[in-house]
Amino acid sequence: PFELVARRSGKTVTVAPGQSMAEALHSVGVRITLSCEQGVCGTCACDVIEGEPEHRDAYFTDEEKAANDQVLVCCSRARSARLVLDL
Ligand code: FES
Repeated sequence: PFELVARRSGKTVTVAPGQSMAEALHSVGVRITLSCEQGVCGTCACDVIEGEPEHRDAYFTDEEKAANDQVLVCCSRARSARLVLDL
């Protein structure tokens, strides 16, 4: 599990194993527009303010993944204990 913060919304939620960040966000009322839910379309991209994402998508290039400034919340997770998103 890791802690996910939606900074602009002022919400913090714990993302359980087996739960996506998008599901965890929805559970606290932060709505994300999803499409493929498999990390291929890029619809759910969010800006990362703090923390290190664990990219599990097939959408970003290796360079974009290494930059760690965006994450796809339908499928990716966090390497750090806490991930802060601009949401
Ligand atoms: Fe398609 Fe997340 S919904 S990449």
